[in-house]
Amino acid sequence: MANPSANINVMIRAAGKAARQLRRDFGEAENLQVSRKGPADFVTAADLRAEKILREELARARPEYGFLMEESGATGSADDGGRRWIVDPLDGTTNFLHGLPHFAISIALEERGELVAGVVYDPLKDETFRAEKGTGAYLNDRRIRVSSRRHLADALIATGTPYKGHGDHPQFLGEVEAVMAEVAGIRRWGAAALDLAYVAAGRYDGFWERDLSSWDVAAGIVLVREAGGYVSQIDGRTIQHDSPSILAANDLLHAPLQKALHRARDRA
Ligand code: IPD
Ligand code: CA
Ligand code: CA
Repeated sequence: MANPSANINVMIRAAGKAARQLRRDFGEAENLQVSRKGPADFVTAADLRAEKILREELARARPEYGFLMEESGATGSADDGGRRWIVDPLDGTTNFLHGLPHFAISIALEERGELVAGVVYDPLKDETFRAEKGTGAYLNDRRIRVSSRRHLADALIATGTPYKGHGDHPQFLGEVEAVMAEVAGIRRWGAAALDLAYVAAGRYDGFWERDLSSWDVAAGIVLVREAGGYVSQIDGRTIQHDSPSILAANDLLHAPLQKALHRARDRA
């Protein structure tokens, strides 16, 4: 087992601290489901609380690094090594809001424009997915790899659904139609960072989504790569964390999945 580096330990500790607060807040969000007011304002506050804890913890350990965070945007400047944290304090907000136990904290480290480390932590399942460039990917202390399935017909594929006011609905319906005709199943679990972590762990065989943000995918990209998978944009172009789309899969299924998505575009 590759021992976690000092930076990975910093990320895991910060995630653990924010997770304690998120777990408490999730209990309250569950209670609020039945209240007339509903949990929406409370969840927004929980999100901000988690982000504050993460910022304080990461800044305490690495005062010289910059930040790109979902709620507060880009703050501080990267150090002379060009390092900054890319953080989603709560990925899966809609699940959290509805009392669905599937959400995560996502922290990535970028160095001179390159993603070099990622941690995705699921506070309710106590699952820590971590990876650092060149040292493999791990779930808790176990090495993980992408699945070895070679046929789309056996593959379980995750995606994200556009929703009211967001995304290109006809395009997505075309893509689902093309992919579902070829695969064993499609899932939409509502937390992109976990979707990517699950591809890294071989639970899903692939994942595609459009219109995500840097903090949704930055840690997951490192996880999938270090688990031996391939990540690109949907059209096959090289991916950056701020690219408009993502397609991740094991090496064998990436091309067939991309082809299926391409057919959807041709049909549109
Ligand atoms: C969302 C989740 C979801 C994806 C959305 C994201 P949030 O992040 O990752 O799976 O489909 O587009 O915005 O808002 O829960 O942090
Ligand atoms: Ca997110
Ligand atoms: Ca979020």
